[in-house]
Amino acid sequence: MKHLTLAAAMALLSAPAFAQVSTQGDAAAGEEVFARNCVACHVVQNGDEVLAGRNSKTGPNLYQMPGRTPGTYEGFEYGDSMIAFGATGAVWDEAHFVAYVQDPTGYLREQLDDNRARGKMAFQLRKEEDAYNVYAYLVQLSAPAAQ
Ligand code: HEC
Repeated sequence: MKHLTLAAAMALLSAPAFAQVSTQGDAAAGEEVFARNCVACHVVQNGDEVLAGRNSKTGPNLYQMPGRTPGTYEGFEYGDSMIAFGATGAVWDEAHFVAYVQDPTGYLREQLDDNRARGKMAFQLRKEEDAYNVYAYLVQLSAPAAQ
């Protein structure tokens, strides 16, 4: 028994850091949410390969955003508050993502405990369920199997 427990722990430890498997979302439904709400500003692009979106660069590339530090996609000009959020040691996971996309500025204010914080993302996703689904979709696109 003891050996089994150790093996299970080792398997967990060796899982890739970014594979934040979504617990609640439905990736297929999330694909539609992304196409309807996010493509105006975001692309999901692995190197030269566009996996989703219409190549808009208004927002940062969301490829492998799950597990990434907020505000760190190279070459994108983030707002100061997003960079400050990343500096807190936060990492994009399902909980941060779902709250952020429903109210970007409000969430940054709460996380930074600063009423003057501002998000540059001029969009709010209304339904929490849509947020879970689009997160599951972005996790799926970021997994090695999707490359
Ligand atoms: C009107 C344009 C616009 C739309 C629509 C939009 N975004 Fe954004 N998004 C942005 C911008 C600009 C930023 C950078 C925010 C900042 O620097 O404060 C951003 C940042 C983000 C980030 C943080 C990424 C990082 O690298 O830290 C995530 C996650 C995100 N958006 C997800 C989404 C999702 C999912 C949707 C669709 C439901 C969406 N966004 C719709 C413009 C948009």
